[in-house]
Amino acid sequence: MQAFASSLRAPVRRAAFSSARIPRASFRSSYRRYTTQPEAPKSKTALYAGLGALAIGGVAFYLYSSSSDTLGTTAKSAAQSVKAAAHFVPTKEDYQKVYNKVAEALDEAGDYDDGSFGPVLLRLAWHSSGTYDKDAHTGGSNYATMRFEPESLHDANAGLNVARGIMEKIKQDFPWISYGDLWTLGGVAAIQEMSGPKIPWRAGRIDGLPKDVTPDGRLPDASQGQSHLRDIFYRMGFNDQEIVALSGAHALGRAHTDRSGFDGPWTFSPTTLTNDFYKLLLEEKWIWRKWNGPKQLTDKKTTSLMMLPTDYSLVQDKTFKKYVKAYAEDESLFFKDFSAVVSKLFELGIPESQFTTTEKWSLKTLDEQKEESK
Ligand code: HEM
Repeated sequence: MQAFASSLRAPVRRAAFSSARIPRASFRSSYRRYTTQPEAPKSKTALYAGLGALAIGGVAFYLYSSSSDTLGTTAKSAAQSVKAAAHFVPTKEDYQKVYNKVAEALDEAGDYDDGSFGPVLLRLAWHSSGTYDKDAHTGGSNYATMRFEPESLHDANAGLNVARGIMEKIKQDFPWISYGDLWTLGGVAAIQEMSGPKIPWRAGRIDGLPKDVTPDGRLPDASQGQSHLRDIFYRMGFNDQEIVALSGAHALGRAHTDRSGFDGPWTFSPTTLTNDFYKLLLEEKWIWRKWNGPKQLTDKKTTSLMMLPTDYSLVQDKTFKKYVKAYAEDESLFFKDFSAVVSKLFELGIPESQFTTTEKWSLKTLDEQKEESK
């Protein structure tokens, strides 16, 4: 997929569009942009130049190779052992501090994508959880095996070195936290800070070893259709309604030609969680994009949005479509179901006995904490 030249990336066009949204009052960052703003096509070189600029700007952001990953993990595990030996028992407040650090890091994105690291951090949390196999009892977020090769190099994980790099920097401040807890807590912070619902979460994941790496092919292949979606998500233990609810995450972020090969955002507000993914699927006319890249759809009206073949299959399948309609009509229903299903996703494969509490926690957003301190 690397072969698809990033110069093929279509410029996002300015468009008047019925579903374009006004940023919510609670929308925190003035950095974040809407996709209706034109964006300069990015080359790979430009991306790295951008990353360099971020570093100069004091943004904690670096890429690290999987081999140094392993070494880093050894050092960090040692730090964890030291904390454990000192009988350090983190409380909910300690995890709230980690949440806050991630939440602050989201807006340090500067020129990166649409001005937030939120979407890519959510994708990391999902890809680390979505390897779960309910029959084999392997995979899931427990061991954070994406730190190791070959999982870090699986095609589906292309680009997630960006997210792992951001998380690695945060880990330095909180060496006691496991990678699985850190990455999933990052997903929780990303959703909540991008105006999404509360995602109940609790701690307890432990760091695994390279032997725990899961085989390639467990994550969905976007070029396929509804039967593939069912194969992949039933294996994790999800049903049709949950598949549709999870897919609403594509209201956030964008596809990158130098990662998956696909290109563009799904909605006009890719750093705010809404039910627009479902509305757009139903309301727009989707046509196959004519380009030198993988098969994807574009909206006929503005040609600035995209849908993956898997996304489009949600309105071609009668059962899936029923849920698409329900979520398009009722954002609060989507938020309720999304909260439940993401909470379940992030806990796949973790033995109950490993969790530090039976109750899941509701962590506070930065806005809520600001309000409280007034
Ligand atoms: C239903 C099957 C799914 C398929 C086939 C799929 C596929 C993809 C692909 C191809 C990309 C573009 C990656 C890139 O080029 O950077 C992407 C991005 C993304 N996906 Fe999914 N995905 C699925 C489900 C999910 C789920 C369940 C979640 C979260 C709950 C999720 C969250 C995201 C986010 C937030 C992005 C944007 C990342 C960014 O902006 O860097 N996806 N997905």
